[in-house]
Amino acid sequence: MNRRELLQWLSRGMATTIAAIIGLPGIRYLSGKAPSVTEPESDFRRLKRLQDLSVGRPVMVPVLGSKQDAWVQSDQQVLGRVWLIRRPAASGAAETEVHAFSSVCPHMGCQIQMQPSSQKFVCPCHRATFDLNGERQNDPVSQEANHAPRDMDPLACRVVCDSSSEDAWVEVKFETFQIGSKQRVVRS
Ligand code: FES
Repeated sequence: MNRRELLQWLSRGMATTIAAIIGLPGIRYLSGKAPSVTEPESDFRRLKRLQDLSVGRPVMVPVLGSKQDAWVQSDQQVLGRVWLIRRPAASGAAETEVHAFSSVCPHMGCQIQMQPSSQKFVCPCHRATFDLNGERQNDPVSQEANHAPRDMDPLACRVVCDSSSEDAWVEVKFETFQIGSKQRVVRS
């Protein structure tokens, strides 16, 4: 191999290496194998002490976890928000219940808010209104039909006792759902 051939061989090798380094993340991205959120599925997440929830007063709670793009993993990021409502204990029941709903409006994905004056959930974008059970209501002012295609999305929720502190904690199985459809379809 003469000097010229050696130089050509070296430059081809370098070009191949550089292309591989630059191209791999892009290929990962294009193949859809770079999830925006990487959290173990079906996990219940500990969100709130039971004693911090007042009966009948909904509280919006952020859900924290790890997010990863093609290059970087970031911990303690807000993955979403849920509404928690502590219910009065049914007569004869020893335990109080907590219900959880996704805060994402099933119409177009805005964050559903609480309207304290009416004790209803209201979406600020197109005024979809829901009662405290997450069921759709007509707008009490305009009586317009509700824009939301379904009720608020309920989330599995449980109250557990911490074995070391003996505090009762509310845990929620956090999921996201397709927006805009009548059917409730889990996205993640
Ligand atoms: S996004 Fe909530 S009513 Fe339209």
